[in-house]
Order: sequence, then C-alpha cells, then structure tokens
Amino acid sequence: MTALYEVRGNVAVITLDNPPVNGLGLATRKACVEGVLRAEADPAVQAVVLTGAGRAFSGGADIKEFGQPSALAEPSLHTLIRVVEACSKPVVAALHSVCMGGGLELALGCHYRVAEAKATLALPEVKLGLVPGAGGTQRLPRALGVEPALNMILSGEQVPCELLALAPGQKLFDRLVPQDALGAAVALAQEVAAVRPLPKVRDLAATHPNADAYFQFVRNSVAAAQPRYPAPQRCIDAVSWSLTLPFEDGLRRERETFIALMLTPESKALRHAFFGERAASKIADVPENTPLREIRSVGVIGAGTMGGGITMNFLNAGIPVTLLETKQEALDRGVATIRKNYEAQVKKGKLKDDKYAARMALLSTTLSYDDLKNTDLIIEAVFEEIGVKEAVFRQLDAVAKPGAILASNTSTLDLNQIAAFTARPQDVLGMHFFSPANVMKLLEVVRGQATAKDVLATVMQLAKKIKKTAVVSGVCDGFIGNRMLEQYVRQSTFLVDEGCSPEQVDKAAEAFGFAMGPFRVGDLAGNDIGWAIRKRRRVEKPDVRYSECADRLCELGRFGQKTGAGWYDYQPGNRKPIPSPVVAEMLEKHRAAIGAKTRAISDDEIVQRLVFALVNEAAHLLEEGIAQRASDVDMVYLTGYGFPLWRGGPMRYADEFGLFNVVQAMKRFAANAMDDGAFWQPAPLLERLVAEGKSFT
Ligand code: NAI
Repeated sequence: MTALYEVRGNVAVITLDNPPVNGLGLATRKACVEGVLRAEADPAVQAVVLTGAGRAFSGGADIKEFGQPSALAEPSLHTLIRVVEACSKPVVAALHSVCMGGGLELALGCHYRVAEAKATLALPEVKLGLVPGAGGTQRLPRALGVEPALNMILSGEQVPCELLALAPGQKLFDRLVPQDALGAAVALAQEVAAVRPLPKVRDLAATHPNADAYFQFVRNSVAAAQPRYPAPQRCIDAVSWSLTLPFEDGLRRERETFIALMLTPESKALRHAFFGERAASKIADVPENTPLREIRSVGVIGAGTMGGGITMNFLNAGIPVTLLETKQEALDRGVATIRKNYEAQVKKGKLKDDKYAARMALLSTTLSYDDLKNTDLIIEAVFEEIGVKEAVFRQLDAVAKPGAILASNTSTLDLNQIAAFTARPQDVLGMHFFSPANVMKLLEVVRGQATAKDVLATVMQLAKKIKKTAVVSGVCDGFIGNRMLEQYVRQSTFLVDEGCSPEQVDKAAEAFGFAMGPFRVGDLAGNDIGWAIRKRRRVEKPDVRYSECADRLCELGRFGQKTGAGWYDYQPGNRKPIPSPVVAEMLEKHRAAIGAKTRAISDDEIVQRLVFALVNEAAHLLEEGIAQRASDVDMVYLTGYGFPLWRGGPMRYADEFGLFNVVQAMKRFAANAMDDGAFWQPAPLLERLVAEGKSFT
C-alpha cells in the first residue's frame, strides 16, 4: 500500500505515502482510488480527508515512472481525480506542505481544500516543456482566478498558500490555518458531511473583464522572454480555454496539448536536463548510503578571482569559511571584492542588509595555516603552478586534522600529482569551480586515482548544499569541459582559416543558441590563455594541428577585452564587439601565407562543425571513463558553457540529429578539411553506436 487508510469518527483519512514526496505512481493512485471507494461504501463514513505523509502532500507525478508504461496504466491520474470528484461524500484535501503538479491537480479535484499558510503550491510542468496535463489549466483559473493561475502556470514556481489566499475572490482555499492542516480538514469534513450538492471546481466559471487584451499582452511578453520554447504559449492557450470552452472540452484539449508537447525536442531536452541533473549526483561504484564526512567549516587558500567566489558559496549556505593568503594586502583585496559583490546584491534588492551582515560574520581571515587545523574541508585556489601547489599541499598535510578533505581548484594540473604531495591522497580531490565561482552552477568534481569513496560522496552532497550542479570527472588535461572546449576552439579557428570571419562564426553559434560565440568568449577570457596552451601542445603533441591565426592575433598584442582589442575592436569602457579591419587584414595575410583554399561556408556547417567537435571529444571521454555518462557531459555544457538548454546539451543534440547523420557530416568535413582529416576521425564509441543503431542518451 502506498496510501494509508484510517477512520477517525465518521471521517476516513487517506494518507498518500510514497516517499520521498508522495509521487503519484501507479501503486499510490490505485491505493488512493481504493481508499475513496472504500470510504464511499462504508455507511459509518460520512466524509473523506486526503492528505500526504511526511514532508509533502504530493510532489506530483512519480519521476521514477516517467516514460514507463505504468505512468499511463489505469487508474491514471485523470481517473483518480474523477473518482475523487465524483465521490458522493465530501472529500477535503489537507495541504500541510509542498503540493505540486499532479498533486495540486488532485487537490483541485477535491470538494474542499484546507491549507497551512506556509504550504506551497506549484504547477511546474512548464519547466519540463509541458502544460499541466490533468486538469490544472482548467481548474486552477476557475478556483484561483485567471491571472494568478496563469502566472503560476507560466512560472512553474512554488508559491506559498498565504500569498495565493490574497487573490481577490479566490475559491482555492476553504480554510487557511497556521498549522495542523489535517486537524482542520477533519473538522471541516465533519461540518460539511451533510452538504449537498457538493461543490466542484469544474462548476465554477473562469472569468476575466478584458480577456482578449489580457491574453494578447501575456502572449507578447512570453514571446519576447522565451522565444525558443513552445510550452509557455500552449499554457496560455490552455488557460484561455477555461474561459471559452465547456469544462470537458477544455480538459480534452489540455490533454491533447500535453501529449503533443511531450514529443517536442524542447520538452525532451528539458526533461533530459532534469533527469541529467539527478543522474549526475550518482556514482556507479559509490553506494548511495555511503556514510558522509561532516562539513561544518571550510578553509579557502588564495583570495584571488576564484578563492573569493568559492568563499561566497559557503557563506551563502551558512558554512563558516577561513580564508588564507600569504600577505595581508592580498587578504584585504580579496575580502574587499567579496564585500563589493554582496553590496551590489544589496543595492539591487537581492540581498537584505541583515543577511549580508550574517554572511560576513561567517568569514574569518588568516595568514597562518595553524588556523586551518580544525577545518573539515580545505579548498586550494592559488596560482596555477605546480611548485606553488606543492608547497600548499605539503603544509596542508602537516596541519590538517585527520579526515579533513583537501581539494584543489586546479583547471589544468594533474590532480594525482597534487594528491601525492600529501601522505593522504585518499582525502584529496579536485573541486573545479567556474568563474565567477559565486554565480556559475557547474562544479566538476575531480576524482583522483586514490580519492576515497566517502570523500567523493561528501563533496557531491555538499555541492547540493551550495546549489551547484556537480559532475564527476576523471583526471585528464582539461577534465570534461575544457578538454572538449579545446576541440571546439580549434575548430573555430579552422573555420576562420577556410574563410569565415570571426563575427560570422560567432553569429552562427549565437543563432544556434550559445550564449556567446567562440571568438567573443576568447576576447572575454583572454586570448593569451589559449596561446600559452598552444605553445605547450606544440611541444607535447607535435602531430596535432592548431591553426596559427590565433597566434598571429596574439603577436599583435590583441589579448581581448583586457587589452582593448582582440578578435574584435572595443571602444574604451564598452564591451560591445566591433568587427575589426585590422583583424580582417591580418587574416587575409594569414590565409595567403598558409595557401588556404577559402570558400563560402554556411551557418549550418559552422554550427555542426563546432558542436560535433564537442561531441566527438566527449565520445573519447566516455570511452576513457573520464566522464561517467553522456548526460553528465550535457550537464557540464548546459551549466558551465552556455549551451542552449532547449537543445539539451551537445550529446542530446547529436542524438536528436541522429548519430548516423553526425558521422556522415564528419566524413564530409574530413574530405573538405585542409589537413589530413585527422580532426574528423570519429571516436570508436561513436562508430560503435552508429553500427549498433544506438544513441548516447
Ligand atoms: P588569482 O591569481 O586571481 O588568485 C590566486 C591567489 O592565490 C592570489 O590572491 C595569490 O595571492 C594567492 N596565492 C598565491 N600563492 C599562494 C600561497 N602559496 N598561499 C596562499 N595564497 C597564495 O588566480 P585565480 O584565477 O583565482 O586562479 C586560482 C586557481 O583557480 C588556479 O589553480 C586556476 O587554474 C584555477 N581556476 C581559475 C579559473 C579562472 O577562470 N580564473 C577557473 C577555474 C579554475
């Protein structure tokens, strides 16, 4: 049984009981239907209360059931709601806590609703590219009012009941109580036991004094804000039917719309990301019940660009941080930057003064390693030089308490080598944050060859606490994200060799949905970084070809925004990129010097070459076991590299494109390429998947 049944006096109480959030899976739906029928058949029962066990009324559909046949099996959610609504005895929903999606649709099918003020309601389907599919768009506008209902449906966010109760004329709540929704619901059930006919949300009218103008206004706003997603417009359609169509017709069309949206690439991408996020936190050989180490305090070494941002994550989560530097000035500078960041948030009204003060009170600074001897987790973010890292880790090894976790934020150095500077490599791992570290969602958790399972599990759990999307990466140069990026950037410069302008490449990438094209990113991050990497690569891997156009750029001192010029020109104090005649001339000379065969290249080819460069490298990463699963790669690109969410990530995009077609395209690129086509040699995994007719995700 995943719903409990008990009788209190003349009231039957049905409690949804499917941890963790009472998802409405088949067994729960069945048990709930049986409960209602049993109450109906029992002459001693005069009313029914429906509630949820634990920390939710219901989180909605059971995500374990998504895509499984049982999701559609009877009794469906529709059937359950019909059974509840048609019950001849009053059914009262007791909402003590979270009530989302199908859970709210079920509550709307009840005759009465009693809610605790702090309980929250949401119809989050739009976040998965869907409309609510079990009457939410037809009943909520009738119960709550058209505008607040549409706002809820379009945002998908949880809204506290006390706020919703302020909606003028709302009939969503029959009682709003400070606590004990269940007790209040049982009392109400006894009061209304004899009321007939029973009130039903479906019998209410949804009205708006100026419906046409209102819906047009919302359509325009949504079209401007979310042009790439079909679901928000369909949500508006569906809510408008609550005013214009008979209830059953609205319900049917809502259902049809839901099913049609399930098949859109945007919804598939959003669902892929939703499940990808959950999958990423799981590590194949680390059991979910691995005991965790307690992290009550954090140390950060280095108060520079990364150290400051890293520190803020923990302060925001209420975890005290000790920040260590070698010089007082560096500490002062670091703390001043943290303050400046918080003050900017206060100014924008995003952070209250008292919270700012509370966060700063959690920060202490030091010049001495002794102050880290009781710290649970220490993250190093000093200069990217192995000698400096060595000195830091040797000192940490000397002072840190046994069991403390030691992490490095290195982006290029060998984590196993760093771990070996200590006598406790099992306690060492990489925590690769992205800049700005207080903003970017991605955290690559780098697993060294000796990293202990509980250390990994602890950091994955901690990542959730600081609101990061953590993805595990094995040790390699660049880890998952930057190793793929190197191929993407290499390909972008080959495109320029073959005649594209940097702005053409950027425009094509941005039209595809990337937050910024590769050349604009280069100018933002600093072109000198790539220059240094290429110099290193030419020694390490002399056979691998890199275009020299970016070297020519750097030789002109055009490092990007920081030098006022890069692939683009910049006006002083302005980040707007302006196509540069100097760069155009430099590129003409460069192409002549290498004897380039230039041609017109379509935007489609540009995008495919950039994205498939990522995909092919990712296939190598999967094969080498650096990345655990294709969806992890997608999470890295969605949360750290500005890949368009509505495309679901490079691997999901490749799957949607068809891996057979991807390999065919790669063969065409190889035939055209100015080198021996080595770049486009498909990774063995990619070839194998094509041969087996499979996909990545
Ligand atoms: P940064 O130069 O801004 O900051 C480094 C800080 O470390 C400076 O404040 C310096 O005074 C301090 N420091 C140097 N040696 C020290 C020592 N022995 N003990 C204590 N403090 C010391 O550098 P940034 O950009 O913050 O990079 C730090 C680390 O983060 C590097 O390993 C880098 O590869 C990595 N990283 C950087 C990213 C970025 O976008 N900047 C992104 C991801 C990782």
